[in-house]
Order: sequence, then structure tokens, then C-alpha cells
Amino acid sequence: MSKAGKMNKVTTSVIRKMKEKGEKITMLTAYDYSTAAVMDEAGVDIILIGDSLGMVVLGYDSTLPVTMEDMLHHTKAVSRAVERAMVIGDMPFMSYQASVEEAVRNAGRFMKEAGAHGIKLEGGRDVAEATRRIVAAGIPVMGHLGLTPQSVHQLGGYKVQGKDDTTAKRIMEDAKILEEAGAFSLVLEVVPATLAAEISKSLKIPTIGIGGGVDCDGQVLVTNDMLGMFEKFTPKFVKKYTNLNTHMKEAFVQYFDEVKKGIFPGKEHSF
Ligand code: KIV
Repeated sequence: MSKAGKMNKVTTSVIRKMKEKGEKITMLTAYDYSTAAVMDEAGVDIILIGDSLGMVVLGYDSTLPVTMEDMLHHTKAVSRAVERAMVIGDMPFMSYQASVEEAVRNAGRFMKEAGAHGIKLEGGRDVAEATRRIVAAGIPVMGHLGLTPQSVHQLGGYKVQGKDDTTAKRIMEDAKILEEAGAFSLVLEVVPATLAAEISKSLKIPTIGIGGGVDCDGQVLVTNDMLGMFEKFTPKFVKKYTNLNTHMKEAFVQYFDEVKKGIFPGKEHSF
């Protein structure tokens, strides 16, 4: 039996059971083969190829320019590495908003061409029909509410969402609508911890928080943020588990010095 065969692969029902048992769900983003392989071995439950790709890998100022081709390219690389985790492809801006038919077709491309196990899309009631139809096509859908970066211009910046009663009520309603539409889980981004706790309690599907406090059913971070590899800005909700930028710079400087001085390559690296 293959290594993957012996493993308890993460599926939508595994995720649902984790919530029922009160076991926290771990999710991180990955965009390449090597990082995804390490993450999968570390036991991370869900690996998201986020459209944060646009900012932390491709150098754009927002996620808006990211294309389906960008997303498929990186999802394929991650899928090749992963044996246990659930792989979720993030639907980029304008791949699902124009029509439900386009949404279903593009969601299908993540599964058929890139080996994803499900997709994520941003929005509430406005994407309920698309969610329903994608789920009906046999594709697991993860919702995303609160601060939805693809709507940054409409939201007026990367701000906390649901701070007043009216907006909090709307996010709660949207969460229930997405659950009814068949979403298997829901990202809650940058909402007050009390609201995230209330939503998590009132849904059967798990919530995955990013800036949503400790009472969400799981947590997600952008990997380049938590590894200290993206220094343009650091949101309050990010915990840096290491400072890879410093370690990488030290290695690059040492390499530079050793090549200049003829120290590298040594005899052991030569034939
Ligand atoms: O694009 C992304 O990485 C995301 C996560 C922050 C949830 O949507």
C-alpha cells in the first residue's frame, strides 16, 4: 500500500467530524511543491492555494489581478506534493461573479486540471446560487465572509467587518445562507471575536478564522506572513512563527562572500 493509502486523508466529512469532536482544524496557504510537501508532512489539515498568491508571490498590490491560469498553475504544483491534506483552490476575482455557469465551469477546472479537492469563493448571499450549483456538481465549497479582499475597493480598505449590529447581523445571515447552500466550511476574516464565536456556535459547518479570534473551529494564516517572508505590511492577526527573511538573507550573504572569496565550491562539492 502507498504511503498515502495508509494515511487518514482529510475529506469534508473528516472536517465536519473534527468540529463535532471539538478538535481544532488547521489550515495554511501554499503556492509551490516544496512548501506544500513540508506542510503536508507536518500534518496541516487543509492547504489553501489562496489568491493571496497575487500579493505574496507575484508582487501585486491586491488580489484583483490574479487569473485562473495563475491559480491553476500553482494549484497543480501543490497537488503534486500533497498526500494527506485537503487541497482547496481559491477562485480568483471575476472567475465566479459574472455568471453561475462560469462559476461552475471554473470551479470544475480546479478539480479536473489542477487536482484540487474543493474550492473557496468570497461573498455571502450574492454567491449562494453559485455555491449551490457548484456543490450540485460534486465540488466541495468553502465560503469566505467578513473582510473579503476581492471587494477591497467596495469595503474601503482592509478593515474589521461586522463591528456594528447591522453589519454583524448581515454576516450572521450570510453564514446561514452559505451553510444552507451546501458550503462545507466557512472562512471568517477580520471580524470581532465575539461575532465569530456566535457564528461558529450557530452553524453545523466549521468556521476557519483569520483575525476571527480563538473560538472559530479552525485557524488559517497566509504562510508567507507566519514564516516572516512578507514584510510589506503585517496585519495585527498575524503571528510570525519564524523570521525566514532574516535567515534567507544571512544565507545569501554567506553564499555571496564564499563565491567571491573562492571558498565555495569546496573539494566535497567538486568532481
Ligand atoms: O487568499 C488567501 O490566502 C485567503 C486566506 C487568507 C483565507 O483567502
